[in-house]
Order: sequence, then structure tokens, then C-alpha cells
Amino acid sequence: MTTIFLPDLEATQQLGITLGKTLNVGTVILLAGDLGAGKTTLVQGIGKGLGIIDPIVSPTFTLINEYIEGRIPLYHLDLYRLEPHEVIGLNLESYWEGIEVTPGIVAIEWAERMPYLPDSYLRICLNHGENGQRQAEITEIN
Ligand SMILES: Nc1ncnc2c1ncn2[C@@H]1O[C@H](COP(=O)(O)OP(=O)(O)OP(=O)(O)O)[C@@H](O)[C@H]1O
Ligand SMILES: [Mg+2]
Repeated sequence: MTTIFLPDLEATQQLGITLGKTLNVGTVILLAGDLGAGKTTLVQGIGKGLGIIDPIVSPTFTLINEYIEGRIPLYHLDLYRLEPHEVIGLNLESYWEGIEVTPGIVAIEWAERMPYLPDSYLRICLNHGENGQRQAEITEIN
């Protein structure tokens, strides 16, 4: 696990930009942690790093937003409003299996709600650390 301190908004955006420039097709990013800790901000950075110009907005109500104009497609999901048993019906695995969906990067906010996980993923836990400063704990699961 790697911990990255994110003292300001720009730090979170920049971490996202770096990920968006470097991640490979098929990467699943599971975003967890505190309410309002910067998950959507991080995905906005990822979009920028991928070269997506469309504004990336929180999919809290739409569940999923798809962006296809960047280097790789980006699928941005937010499970906040769902219970784990409701997530089962979404067939999330179609995103990482890339069978019915063009393979891309999948970023899932509130991944705590997932009743099952892909075999490999990048887990990024965003939290308000001591004295309110935000931090990201990144773990790669293979
Ligand atoms: N590193 C940071 N330092 C200070 N403020 C930040 C940082 N990252 C994000 N913010 C700000 O925190 C607020 C919440 O950010 P954001 O919406 O990205 O969080 P979130 O984790 O997606 O929230 P939710 O849990 O509601 O989905 C925004 O106003 C954002 O600008
Ligand atoms: Mg959010």
C-alpha cells in the first residue's frame, strides 16, 4: 500500500491526471473512503489525463457516465445510492470483462457497495486524515 498526501484540490486532480496518462485499458479503479474526500475530483483528473474534454460530473443519480473521446474509454460509476443486493443486477462485470462493452478504464465510487470484486483492480481509499488533510491509500490487487 502506498499513501499519498493530498494537501489541496490540485494535488488530487494531479494524481488523477497521472493515472489517466499511464493506466492501461482494462484497469478497474475501486474508490472507497470518506464522504466528500475527493473521489469525483480524482476521476475528473483521470479524465483530463485521458484527454477527455467533456466535463466529468458525479454519476450519483445517473449511476454511470461514459466518456469515449479520450485515449481510452472511461466508465465512471457511483454506487452511493445502492445497496449491495441492488448492485448485483447492474452486471458490473461486463465492464471489466469487456465482452459487451468496449474495454476501457472503469472507476467506481463507493466500491464498498460491491458484493463481488474483479480479480485484479486498483483500490484507492480517499480519506480525511488527521487535521483534515486528505490522503489516498493505493493498493494494487492482482
Ligand atoms: N485534496 C483536496 N483538498 C481539499 N479539497 C478537496 C480535495 N479534493 C477534493 N476537494 C474538494 O472536496 C469536495 C468534495 O470532493 P468530491 O466531490 O470529489 O468528493 P467525493 O469523494 O466524490 O464525494 P462523494 O462522497 O459525495 O461522492 C469538493 O468541493 C472538492 O473540490
Ligand atoms: Mg463523488
